[in-house]
Amino acid sequence: MKIIDSISRMSVLIKILKKEGKSIGFVPTMGYLHEGHLSLVRTAKKHTDVVAMSIFVNPIQFDRREDLEKYPRDFKHDEGLARDAGVDIIFYPSVKDMYPDGYSTYVNVEGLTDYLCGSSRPGHFKGVTTVVAKLFGIVKPDIAYFGQKDAQQAIVIKRMATDLNMDIEIKILPIIREKDGLAMSSRNINLSEPERKDAAVLFQALKKAEALVKEGERDAKKIIRQMEAMIKGKETAKIDYISIVDTKDLKPMSTVLSEALVALAVFFGKTRLIDNIIVKA
Ligand code: PAF
Repeated sequence: MKIIDSISRMSVLIKILKKEGKSIGFVPTMGYLHEGHLSLVRTAKKHTDVVAMSIFVNPIQFDRREDLEKYPRDFKHDEGLARDAGVDIIFYPSVKDMYPDGYSTYVNVEGLTDYLCGSSRPGHFKGVTTVVAKLFGIVKPDIAYFGQKDAQQAIVIKRMATDLNMDIEIKILPIIREKDGLAMSSRNINLSEPERKDAAVLFQALKKAEALVKEGERDAKKIIRQMEAMIKGKETAKIDYISIVDTKDLKPMSTVLSEALVALAVFFGKTRLIDNIIVKA
């Protein structure tokens, strides 16, 4: 496994791989790897000749300074897991290399970013799409892999790739969960013991929404109210949002018709977790 810590060296390596006719699978991450990331790598290995993973905690996608500072980092831990999963290249650039003095270009997907995390974390998606566009420009992947846990991010990145004719296939893979249903996330490590216990309620609330829809409930407000009651029952939880939205344009739905994305963001102490489920009426 190669570890490349500069854009210029990465570009040289990618040029060589392209000349050799190798297809490139790409898994962008902010590190502190878990099974969710590794499942993306394993799938990428089945589809492409070379799997590249970026590890870069992107400062411009954090809306709270404290969140950026507390974001877990452990390169040695990541290196071991990436090697075992079969990553061929880790791209590990510095902030200075990615955003040198004078940096002034940003990518912004409109509309889709007005809802959910887009409205509660101003500027977040502009930071995400900017860094992903830059990473795509450097790594030049054939296929890029993202997790469904960040459902809005996945939809926004697909839109960007289409709108900017990036000629990269975007694959979205299922959420990987802990035994109690908590979606795997690098942020879970920041939860205290009581917060970690309480956080299991997120999946329970999403499953409740799914069950209500199955039983015939179509009123989004009523479904959200029941989810709220469950989450508010946990001492360490503070709801940021619970929304039921269209799976394509992410617009809030008042009535659940055919398919809907039930998405939520909840703080447990200072740690903000997101999760979602797709329900079918
Ligand atoms: O999902 C993430 O870890 C990040 O948002 C991403 C896509 C690596 C961009 O920084």
